[in-house]
Amino acid sequence: MLKFGIIGAGMIAPSGVEGAAKSGIAEVVAVADIHPGRLSAFAAKHGIKKTYPKAEDLIHDKGIDAVYIAVPNAYHAPYAVAALESGKHVILDKPFATSYAEASRVVEAARKSGKVFTVGMNQRFVEGAQKIRTLAERGYFGEIYRMRAFWRRRRGAPRLGTWFGSRKLSGGGCFLDIGVHMLDLALYTAGDFDAESVSGAVYTKFGNRGLGEGSWGASDPEGMPFDVDDCALALIRMKSGASVQVEISWAAHQKDGDNHNVEIFGTEADAQLYPGEVYRFDRDLGTNVEAGDLRLPLKYPHANRFVNFFRAILGEEELCVTHEQALKVQRIIDAVYESSATRHEIRL
Ligand SMILES: NC(=O)c1ccc[n+]([C@@H]2O[C@H](COP(=O)([O-])OP(=O)(O)OC[C@H]3O[C@@H](n4cnc5c(N)ncnc54)[C@H](O)[C@@H]3O)[C@@H](O)[C@H]2O)c1
Repeated sequence: MLKFGIIGAGMIAPSGVEGAAKSGIAEVVAVADIHPGRLSAFAAKHGIKKTYPKAEDLIHDKGIDAVYIAVPNAYHAPYAVAALESGKHVILDKPFATSYAEASRVVEAARKSGKVFTVGMNQRFVEGAQKIRTLAERGYFGEIYRMRAFWRRRRGAPRLGTWFGSRKLSGGGCFLDIGVHMLDLALYTAGDFDAESVSGAVYTKFGNRGLGEGSWGASDPEGMPFDVDDCALALIRMKSGASVQVEISWAAHQKDGDNHNVEIFGTEADAQLYPGEVYRFDRDLGTNVEAGDLRLPLKYPHANRFVNFFRAILGEEELCVTHEQALKVQRIIDAVYESSATRHEIRL
């Protein structure tokens, strides 16, 4: 059994416990969190024997093979580098880091250590994403010339006052937090990660006025100022000639509470991911024919990022999210913020 440690006992941390249980090849042996109450409650609930108030002590525990990092974004890269240097395999929750420079340091540490490193993009494992990816690999869509990715929430900002709204601890707002999922999915399903230029516009219009709060976010400190984006738009031109439109918000005066999807447009067919469906114009009927029930094998039938990570450690499965892909996504995210700040298109 692989000995697995979890850093951060917040809202998303149970996914690591579930992933280990589902895998049958890893067991959670330790958890770390700076918040004593959350640390002890999490350990008691999940029957975890070792608890560490300091992440560094878990990272240097010689009895641990692999760690899951699920803390505020500002600590992702420093903890990932330390864990890799300490000989641990690492699965980092999204977003990769707060900047491309930080993410590059993690990839360098991963290469030096020879350990397995991945960013846990859980949405890549959903059925629609896997099936559309398989069809794209088979050339079903012809040339994919554009992608459209959006996640628009009416009142969906993480709890105000927590680290999510603080640039210092989060590195960015809705684009980094949920935009990363949609952007990553568009590039992954299309199989196209090479961007040429990025134009972005980000806005802070709700959280700074105490509006738009949803329910996510458990951690301290409270009372943090909100100085990140709660709306973000991007147009990305790919080297292939394809383009990607991205529209993200944590809050807006809109009808729907939550509306998200990724759409792929090809010369032979289109697709959406939620739910996974393809559409193809029928020349004879002159209508769009919807093929909703995609009978395709799943590349990752376990549909779980942790299972993929553990199997990759044992050499049984290829990593779904590679260093190179994660780094390219981070580079684009940096460029969206840079373009918005400078009001210029950024060439990569
Ligand atoms: N994959 C997904 O869909 C998904 C969903 C939610 C969150 N996340 C990511 O997971 C990470 C954690 O998010 P969350 O929603 O669980 O946050 P959270 O605020 O609920 O929990 C964060 C936890 O980290 C602890 N913490 C803070 N600083 C620490 C430190 N230096 N050392 C150890 N522990 C520390 C806090 O006490 C808290 O318990 C974030 O990076 C977030 O983007 C991913």
